[in-house]
Amino acid sequence: MPRFPSSRFRRLRRTEALRRLVAETTLGTGDLVAPLFVKEGITDPVPITSMPGHAQHTLESVRKEVVEIAGLGIPAVILFGIPIEKDAVGTQADREDGIVQRALRELRAEVGGDLVLVADLCLDEYTDHGHCGVLAADGSVDNDATLARYRSIARAQAAAGADVVAPSGMMDGQVAAIRDALDGDAFTDTAILAYAAKFASAFYGPFRDAAECAPQFGDRSAYQMDPPNVDEAVREALLDVEEGADIVMVKPALPYLDVVRAVADATGAPVAAYNVSGEYSMLKAAAANAWLDETRAMLETLIAIKRAGADFIVTYFAKDAARTLQEG
Ligand code: PBG
Repeated sequence: MPRFPSSRFRRLRRTEALRRLVAETTLGTGDLVAPLFVKEGITDPVPITSMPGHAQHTLESVRKEVVEIAGLGIPAVILFGIPIEKDAVGTQADREDGIVQRALRELRAEVGGDLVLVADLCLDEYTDHGHCGVLAADGSVDNDATLARYRSIARAQAAAGADVVAPSGMMDGQVAAIRDALDGDAFTDTAILAYAAKFASAFYGPFRDAAECAPQFGDRSAYQMDPPNVDEAVREALLDVEEGADIVMVKPALPYLDVVRAVADATGAPVAAYNVSGEYSMLKAAAANAWLDETRAMLETLIAIKRAGADFIVTYFAKDAARTLQEG
């Protein structure tokens, strides 16, 4: 008798049911958050060429989209706004009638408490220079002047009905500033999903077309994280939790799965991962050429992000994945 029979591992891989029984990680529709773009001043949705299946929405089309998303059992959406008018300080970002605030009010009326409404909290879609904050005289982003703007945006989004605000600008102290502003206005129930470890990544390319927010000069390397760093990402996440973040996010996801794991282990907090626009577009492009099986590659990607330690995933595949999971 051989001591190590050749079927040592293979006997539990034999059938789909056996594989399901011993799966260490699961993916469900409850793990998905769908990003949505809503644009001011358009009468019809505008398809985003580099992100097949996604569009810049009107207030009306975003409402229909959200109803469909809720119907698929997806628990949350994250909203990005594109204003008509941009200026140096991003005036439209915190106006009561700003595009995201209007969308939040309409969507809340439509879905009630059935769907979590997350608002991305940043300035780059609203500034004419495309940076995530207000500029100092030397052209760098002024950290503390930007925090004052973020505080005001947080209050506007909470007042409009956001369940969660998601600061994505990578300013130091942004979580503490926003928590303080929310609590000071009695929005103590509004949660903060902090983009804690957001890297300066080439994978945001398609998003910048979708949200019309490419920096007009320079890049974001002076405030977003440098790709080689994982210990620093853990320190960022721990500090965000200390400052009052309810959920910490790592972004992008695929090239940073080690960071997802490190942040999950170190914080013990709910961890999100953002499967960003470039990760979506490259898979869609390969699938369109029949170089990859899209559904299998999508599911493998999403389960890998869960396996790395993410509790949920912000992904442009949310609807596709929910449909696939429903089918069986
Ligand atoms: C900034 C923001 C960006 C993304 C989400 N929030 C762009 C950037 O930092 O340049 C990227 C998301 C994606 O690529 O899917 N407000």
